[in-house]
Amino acid sequence: MNNVISIKNVSLTYKERDIFKKIKGVNGNIGVKNVSFAVGEGEIFSIIGLNGAGKTSTLKCILGLIKPDEGEIEVFGKKELKGVDFEKVGYLPEISYYPKSMKLMDLMKYYGELYNIPRGELDEKIDKILNKLGLISRKNDRLEKFSKGMLQKVGIAQAILNNPKLLFLDEPMSGLDPLARELVIEIILELKSKGTTIFFNTHILEDVASIADRVAIINKGKLVEVLDIKKIMLEQDDFLLKNYFIKKVGEN
Ligand SMILES: Nc1ncnc2c1ncn2[C@@H]1O[C@H](COP(=O)(O)OP(=O)(O)O)[C@@H](O)[C@H]1O
Ligand SMILES: [Mg+2]
Repeated sequence: MNNVISIKNVSLTYKERDIFKKIKGVNGNIGVKNVSFAVGEGEIFSIIGLNGAGKTSTLKCILGLIKPDEGEIEVFGKKELKGVDFEKVGYLPEISYYPKSMKLMDLMKYYGELYNIPRGELDEKIDKILNKLGLISRKNDRLEKFSKGMLQKVGIAQAILNNPKLLFLDEPMSGLDPLARELVIEIILELKSKGTTIFFNTHILEDVASIADRVAIINKGKLVEVLDIKKIMLEQDDFLLKNYFIKKVGEN
């Protein structure tokens, strides 16, 4: 299996911007510390960890949104993603900021242009995705009228608009009702069946156990363990990821 992502000994400390704290020698927050793992093509790989464990920091380093202090990162065999590479990558940020006065349809068209999706295909593609996510009746509404969960669905819609080869989802279930969560699981599995590699961060463990191939436990910036969760679930039907996770986090 080819690796789509490979990270080796990646460390990141957020710099202290406050000059007085700097003088006093107060250290910045540790984002991640010496993290290494690889994600294979077509895999669903999930990072789990408590709030502040380093999930978002890891993802941002892989995407090149933050430069780590140390370590090596390769995505699609490249040291840095640039330009057209992003046409095959989808990304749902942990927090999305959209212009409130924009209509949903216009936002989606804007993303379509960023991804270089041909004009002739775009409308149909947008309709299909909005339909799937139950947003189609709202496509001419301005985003200021959307609830938190609806905005999260908008984030998911833009992330999958380009049929990504590699999809990053940072807390995809955040703010979603149980039905919407089921829908997101369905979408993730459908993309996997088409060969998409999916990397997602979460602290909602039930969802992970049901869909991930492998799970990385991260705690205080450090990688604790990578579990072959598919295999474990097949071999031990009484395995509870939640209990295992709590035990591991307690030990580390
Ligand atoms: N922009 C930032 N500036 C300073 N510290 C940050 C910043 N973003 C994250 N951190 C710190 O890095 C650590 C890891 O955060 P994060 O990667 O966001 O965790 P997670 O996504 O697992 O909740 C935390 O201690 C957090 O406070
Ligand atoms: Mg996070």
